[in-house]
Amino acid sequence: MRTIAHISDLHFGTVDLPVAEALADELNRSAPSLLIASGDFTQRARRSQYQAAADYLKRLPRPQLVIPGNHDIPLWDVIRRFFFPLNRYRHYISADLRPVYRDEEMIVIGLNTARSFSFVWNGFWKDGRISEEQLVDIRLRACEAPPEMFKIVVTHHPFIPPPGERLHGIVHGSKRALAEMEACGIDLCLAGHLHMGYSGDVRTHHEAVKRSILSVQAGTATSTRRRGEPNAYNFITLNPDNITIQVRAWDGHKFIDAARTHFSRLAGVWQMEG
Ligand SMILES: [Fe+2]
Ligand SMILES: [Fe+2]
Repeated sequence: MRTIAHISDLHFGTVDLPVAEALADELNRSAPSLLIASGDFTQRARRSQYQAAADYLKRLPRPQLVIPGNHDIPLWDVIRRFFFPLNRYRHYISADLRPVYRDEEMIVIGLNTARSFSFVWNGFWKDGRISEEQLVDIRLRACEAPPEMFKIVVTHHPFIPPPGERLHGIVHGSKRALAEMEACGIDLCLAGHLHMGYSGDVRTHHEAVKRSILSVQAGTATSTRRRGEPNAYNFITLNPDNITIQVRAWDGHKFIDAARTHFSRLAGVWQMEG
């Protein structure tokens, strides 16, 4: 059994400080097997915002696996944006843009989906992408891990949209990445970005995928830029064929259990219980 505390979209620069303090206390008390932070550490990639995010991360439990988000690349500073997009991220948060965590039960592969040039390609600054090299990364790391290990991919941009919404905001290159993930036996993918917590089987939006892969998104843990949902994070309990996702949400005074969803894998398919 393993536990993962999955936080996302901290957005230092727009942080609700009492929420951040309560979150740090709670995460340290819960002592997860792994803490995952899936990008958007800052609001505008400023030094002061990065410094505050770095100081905060130091107070959170370890081990940690972290990846950048689109807000971690400067928007208006075009020199930095196009030539040194993640220099500050590397300096303040982590030099490793291809993080991996491995123990006896699980392997977690972090992919950086934030891109400086995405607006040239796609018309949207906020869109993300998975590259050819990253497909190789998935292959080398996940395919080599034994099949009995729980295999997880973490991105900032999600693979599926929120319930009832069209395919927007999802990561570009998702089709090819999912083919690779299917071939390498990925069980679960984690993301943030839309500031909405939701989960589902990737096959609901990607018909070519045959393997049941669960896609779980976390809301914004600490930012005041909420999209109709309270600040929240996910506490995930993993067993080989069942997953519990506990959504811990801020009620204005403290974090509470807002939802608890169980998925069991029956005949290779993740099914929601209850
Ligand atoms: Fe965000
Ligand atoms: Fe984002």
